[in-house]
This record gives sequence, structure tokens and C-alpha cells, in this order.
Amino acid sequence: MKNYQFLQQKYTVNTYVNRGITFVRGEGVYLYDDAGNKYLDMMSNYGVNIFGHGDKQILKQLEQQLRLLTTLHGSFNNDKRAEASEMLIKRSGQSYTNVYWCNSGAEANEAAMKFAVVATGKKKIITCDHGYHGKTLGALSVTYGEKYRKPFLPLLWHVEFIPHDDLEALKKTIDKDTAAFIVEPIQGEGGIYVPDKNYLKKVRQICDERGVILIIDEVQTGMGRTGSLLCSQQFGVEADILTLGKGLAGGIPIGATLINNKVSTVIFKGLHTSTFGGNPLACAGVIATLDKIEGSLLKHITEMGSYFIKELKKIKSSSILGVRGQGLMIGLDVKIDRNNLLKKLQGEKILAIPAADTVVRFLPPLIIEKKHVDLVISVLKKVL
Ligand SMILES: Cc1ncc(COP(=O)(O)O)c(C=O)c1O
Repeated sequence: MKNYQFLQQKYTVNTYVNRGITFVRGEGVYLYDDAGNKYLDMMSNYGVNIFGHGDKQILKQLEQQLRLLTTLHGSFNNDKRAEASEMLIKRSGQSYTNVYWCNSGAEANEAAMKFAVVATGKKKIITCDHGYHGKTLGALSVTYGEKYRKPFLPLLWHVEFIPHDDLEALKKTIDKDTAAFIVEPIQGEGGIYVPDKNYLKKVRQICDERGVILIIDEVQTGMGRTGSLLCSQQFGVEADILTLGKGLAGGIPIGATLINNKVSTVIFKGLHTSTFGGNPLACAGVIATLDKIEGSLLKHITEMGSYFIKELKKIKSSSILGVRGQGLMIGLDVKIDRNNLLKKLQGEKILAIPAADTVVRFLPPLIIEKKHVDLVISVLKKVL
């Protein structure tokens, strides 16, 4: 057998850590390595594979579309793109009017910022400490972290960082030049921080009073992850611009930027386009995905999430600093070497991912069951 790990490490640009396993296949909530070992997937590729691997309904629609038409430029119309757009707009709330399709979360945020600038004629953007919005240059401009930003400073436009969940800081930082405030409803990469339950509503009020575009980044929290299609729906808030990605197309690369009337009225031809944006294959994935995210799945996510958090909180260990999360977006904050803990879990055939410096992040497929949670808890008890 070829040494695929060696080949990948030799020939790909080395910007990723190497987790040291070669996966060749997925089935349900499991991933299989090249030696046939089975791993419990508690990270779903950073939140992408929301129905696990090889879901039959998703596969069927993707396979059908693969045979019909895979890509089609946005200057032509397409049945799947039209249907996916209508479905997403209708399911997302009352105020969104249009969707811009692209291919990743970072791209969705790039579009969001361009739209906000055009809608306001201003360029200052406010963002949060520990926020994550992607690593392309525009998205990086509003992403926190010296490590990612330093080589590229000054980055774009005028960006100011404020603490998350801090309304006074937002009020103080908004000025006559402010175009937008971009915020995650729950911070993911930054360490799974859930704000006060009224935070987003008050942010909405402040943005309205001060004429600032509110961009809500639901790339990680969206698509059922926290127990509702969008996390912002649980907080009772609609953005002016909402961004989505990850699991939106059932595992096919995708990004989406939803806008309301305030923004759609200023959009002009050619402002922003992408060759692959809204390709029929991804749009077939969106339709299949939206069909599957319904009441009973959302209830399951809420129940499983509460159970997982409750069981994590029951673990008695001086190594644990805290447990945070909502739905199946969960962080275990630890005092010990976090990467070593991830390695130990991997050694026990359980896959989780990092967040911030001290958090083990669980973004499992939304279909996990109690028995999978119980296994993780028993292994955690052992390795802690
Ligand atoms: C909240 C949030 N925004 C944006 C992104 C960037 O998405 P992508 O990696 O698809 O560019 C991520 C990725 O983790 C994210 O969590």
C-alpha cells in the first residue's frame, strides 16, 4: 500500500497540522482509516457532515444531479439554483429577500462585507475579540488572532475589535464611519462562548438606532447545529446580512450570503460573482439538506446536546475548567495540555477538534445517539 500520509505531507502546502491518520471512507458517524480502523466522528469535518457520512437521501439527490448538470454560471438560470434559493430564503425568516451563493464560509463573509460597504458608503467594520470569520484577506481582516493576522497587517479598511457579549463596547465603538458589525451568535473557533440570551436582540436594536448593518455569521452555528435551523432564530433576531457555509449543501463545498431589502436595493450587476457560486450540484445538496432539517431532527439535536453537556458536567476531574455550548456545538475547557487530550481521544478512536488554546470542541454529526455520547464520556473519564 502507498504511504499516503507521506505523499500528502510531501506534496501539499504545509499549512495544516498533521493529525497522523489517513481516512479513506466514511459511513454514518464513523470514519475508516487506510488500515480499516473505525473512528467515532465527533467533529463532522469541522461541522460539515451534519448527517454523517453517506446519508442515502443526500447521496441520491447528489448522484442524480451529478448526471444532469454540475456547474452553470450565474448568468444562466437553473432549476436547482432557483429552488434552493427560494427554500433557503423562506426557511431563514421574514426579512431576507435574496441569497448570494459562493463556495466557502470565508467567501460568504467577503461578500457580506462588500455588500455592507456598498449599502452604507462607509468602510469601518466592528468585529469581536476571539471571533473567527475565515482566512482570506477580507475575512481575515475581521478575524481575531495575532498569529493569523500579523504577517498581513494592515489588512483591509478600518476594523475595530471589541469584546464579545459587550453592548457598551459596541455603542462606544460605533461612529459616523461605521458600516457594519459582524458577529457569531455563539463563538466557535474562539472557544465556544455563548453570550447572554438577550445580547443579539440588543445588538439588533443598537445597529438599527445607529444605522449600522448587522452581519450575523452562522457558518458554524447554522444548519441545525444549535437546535434550530439558524441559531439567531433562537435569539429572536434577523440580521441585515447572514452568512452560512459548512453543512449547508450536505458535504459539497458551499457558502451563502443572505441579505434583506436594506442591502438588496443597492446591489449592482458585476458587484460580486463567482464561477462556481450556486452550482447546480451544490444547490441539489442544499435542497436535500433543507428537506432533512425539520422538527424531529431539531428536537433530537436539542435533546442530544443537553444530554451531552449534562454528562460532561458530571465528570469529576480537576483537569476540567468548564463545559459550554448549545445543541451539538460543545466545548470542554481543560487545564491540562489540550492537544495531548485530543491525541489521547484519537488513540481511543474518537475524533474531536481544538478551539482556542484550551478547548476540546465537539461538532458531531447531528444524528449521533446516546450510545455515542456515552462512549465519549466513558473514554474521557478514563483518559482524564
Ligand atoms: C463562524 C465561521 N465563519 C467563517 C468560517 C470560515 O469558513 P471556511 O473555512 O469555509 O472558509 C468558519 C470556519 O470555521 C467559521 O466557523
